[in-house]
Amino acid sequence: MTRAISLHQVSKSYTRGFRVVDRLSLDIEPGEFLVLLGPSGCGKSTVLRMIAGLEEIDEGELLLDGEWSNDLLPADRHMAMVFQNFALYPSMTSRDNIGFPLRIESPGENPRARVDATARMLGIEDLLDRFPAQLSGGERQRVAMGRAIARHPTAFLMDEPLSNLDAKLRNHLRAEISALTRKLGVTTVYVTHDQAEAMSLGDRVAVLRGGVLQQVGTPRSVYALPRNVFVAAFIGTPRINLLRGLVRAPLDGAMTVSLGKQYLRLPEPLSLDHQLLRVQQGREVIVGLRSEAVRIASPATARPGEVHITGLVEHVEFQGHEVLVHFNTGSQPAVVPDLEAPRPVPPVRRRRRDAGTVLERLRGRAGALRAGPVVTLEHPADAAADLAPPEGRLPGDLIVRTTPDIDLRHGMQVPLLVDIAHLFVFDQHGDRICPAPARLPDLDE
Ligand SMILES: Nc1ncnc2c1ncn2[C@@H]1O[C@H](COP(=O)(O)OP(=O)(O)OP(=O)(O)O)[C@@H](O)[C@H]1O
Ligand SMILES: [Mg+2]
Repeated sequence: MTRAISLHQVSKSYTRGFRVVDRLSLDIEPGEFLVLLGPSGCGKSTVLRMIAGLEEIDEGELLLDGEWSNDLLPADRHMAMVFQNFALYPSMTSRDNIGFPLRIESPGENPRARVDATARMLGIEDLLDRFPAQLSGGERQRVAMGRAIARHPTAFLMDEPLSNLDAKLRNHLRAEISALTRKLGVTTVYVTHDQAEAMSLGDRVAVLRGGVLQQVGTPRSVYALPRNVFVAAFIGTPRINLLRGLVRAPLDGAMTVSLGKQYLRLPEPLSLDHQLLRVQQGREVIVGLRSEAVRIASPATARPGEVHITGLVEHVEFQGHEVLVHFNTGSQPAVVPDLEAPRPVPPVRRRRRDAGTVLERLRGRAGALRAGPVVTLEHPADAAADLAPPEGRLPGDLIVRTTPDIDLRHGMQVPLLVDIAHLFVFDQHGDRICPAPARLPDLDE
């Protein structure tokens, strides 16, 4: 039997007056795989422990299959927890580790058949007679999974079960957990601070920040329609580019979003979304551009809805199948507090360059740009005369993803096309203005 788990306005404080979980409401359907995602300390484990009954709920309600269950004993919830540190008994073999909870639950029964069936499912039959110290990290985690599965729980509660493992094994076990929980059809609440893990595993992802639920939705919808700048920045690699912008909407001219030394001119007629920006006239906003919203190409190749700006190459990150190019565009990055992993900053490079020299060097080098996306360099934007950041500021305000066949070097000045249809705009509080929710009706916001 699998469980529906509902939290209604659930709060928890360890110190008086400070809620580490703040009025959280979440409905998890039977058989659903829900991921709780957020930075360290945002309350993920606390939520999981409240669902398990290991932590008291201060306020609000926990409903299991619609029944009020705040005070239900952990054992009566029939849920299985899997932790990051595996938590196996060191003095027991894998067989006994897996069988132990079964012996406790049904003392008269021999758990052997269930242990064997579970071991077959996980492919760990030949590990059953070994002790935890004789197992690798991945094998230990499989045994820990086995212990959870053998109990036929009503729900799996997994707290960063893979974070002690190396990247390759993590990917492998991630796929296994996904396949297994779906095969078993058991409701799963999975805690992680790793957005890639959340996106690849979850039917839905619930993003927490400081104990407060920011958004819950399918991976697709939280990526495409982040409710606020925190969610936008937390989800997606490379991190979304967030720039400080200023909306200008003169009555007799084109509406623009100024990005420091350059601006985006919004195509006419204005879309419904962009019309919403009128009320922001004269105000600071945060512009969000995912790396796929910008491409390196000459203005002559612009498609409808693309706007030209210029970038100065600061740093090129080769990743094999793709390249991440860090540009200076003369704009100021917007800072989002609470993000656990700040965007990696490329090493600070030499003194600022004289734009004239850069252009000369570029002309000389244009032939070095090999086939692939065409990059012509005859259209430096007028505003691009000095894109380098002021002394002391870290360079690189815009990261663009491109194919490895394009040869870019530090100091080159390159035309960029911004796809305005993929432009995010957030207000000063970080709430999304564009795109408006009604824009993408197929998404489940
Ligand atoms: N027993 C406790 N007593 C006091 N404070 C606690 C206790 N347990 C957790 N906290 C605090 O509550 C907050 C949320 O903790 P929690 O363990 O739920 O975070 P988390 O999101 O799981 O973080 P991590 O990703 O680091 O595991 C943190 O600020 C933590 O310091
Ligand atoms: Mg935790």
